Amino acid sequence: MKIAILHESAEGERRVAATPETVRKYSALGATVAVETGAGLGAAIADSEYEAAGAAVGPRAAVLGDADAVLGVQGPDAAALAGAKPGALIVASLNPFAERARIEAYAAAGLEALAMEWMPRITRAQSMDILSSQSNLAGYKAVLDAAAEYGRALPMMMTAAGTISAARVFVMGVGVAGLQAIATARRLGAIVSATDVRSATREQIESLGAKAVFVEDVPGIEGEGSGGYATEMSEDYKARQAELVSSHITKQDIVITTALIPGRPAPRLISDAQVASMRPGGVIVDLAVEQGGNVEGAVAGEVVERHGVRIVGHRNVPSRLAADASALYARNLYNFLSAFWDKEAGRVLLPDDDEIVKAIRLTKDGKTVNERLSS
Ligand code: NAI
Repeated sequence: MKIAILHESAEGERRVAATPETVRKYSALGATVAVETGAGLGAAIADSEYEAAGAAVGPRAAVLGDADAVLGVQGPDAAALAGAKPGALIVASLNPFAERARIEAYAAAGLEALAMEWMPRITRAQSMDILSSQSNLAGYKAVLDAAAEYGRALPMMMTAAGTISAARVFVMGVGVAGLQAIATARRLGAIVSATDVRSATREQIESLGAKAVFVEDVPGIEGEGSGGYATEMSEDYKARQAELVSSHITKQDIVITTALIPGRPAPRLISDAQVASMRPGGVIVDLAVEQGGNVEGAVAGEVVERHGVRIVGHRNVPSRLAADASALYARNLYNFLSAFWDKEAGRVLLPDDDEIVKAIRLTKDGKTVNERLSS
């Protein structure tokens, strides 16, 4: 089985889908690996390191020719896959709802597309979960990005010249990114509070030494929510949440928002009037900016100033930590492919009735096969 690693072509994408470590592991399984020239440079991996790990490094045409699986971070354009053989697996984060035309093109080319972000949240698939591995780093980086924009220090400091008070950080949305943001802000010495709609997060917030700030009189989502995910809240809940945010946010220096609802635009959590109620010099980081944004006025790819508050809307935050993000992403892909490695056949075999395969397979034999794409 030949595995191809492409140089990512999306603007600003610095990550890569395999590292020398995973190249060695694929080789140990019995696969051969080909890496497109320069594919790892954005993640600080030189071509020579891939070669030392046993990969062939070369131009795209040579890498793609005969490949049985093509690994990417973001989905490659169908045109970039010209020359890939029919039946080849395309394994990447494929953004299926937004990239329907591309998925159709994969089907037309006879490619078998596997969307890694649709990995089910089951115990067996935890080590293959790219959303978790990348969100964790995004949550960490969001705090550093906030600290860099903030014109004050985060920890309390008692100096001969007087005392500096600790920054107050409020985290909205306590999934994987939010939990890491709480932990990072705490390590930097901030006073941290956090909120979510899922009641299971209350204990998690408190166990990290932060204060849980919850809507009390309208019920939220019991426990973890379905598959660990939130749904759209009632109008009543939203009104109470807005009141809660209004009273809390005026005392905050930094706000990190991470709230997402699968398959829907991100919920709006902070209005322009609430931004205006923060102290000048405050910073908001909107990690949901590419999904529509939690914060009114946030602009994807920009840091904007509104009412003296900086609103940070960096795109593709995991790519801002490309080396670590690639290392974890590459392991997620290896964990997936190796779990389906058939020793006798010497290749990956994906059974049609497997829960993981059913969840992530988008196209096969010229057709779109995933039921989430059938409507
Ligand atoms: P996510 O990225 O979909 O959403 C981020 C957070 O925003 C979630 O905690 C969500 O409840 C919250 N949120 C949504 N709407 C909101 C609103 N209106 N106001 C405030 N908060 C709102 O979530 P993520 O990071 O993917 O993880 C969610 C949970 O899934 C985790 O906490 C964990 O329990 C579970 N999980 C399970 C895994 C497994 O079993 N393999 C792997 C990873 C996560």
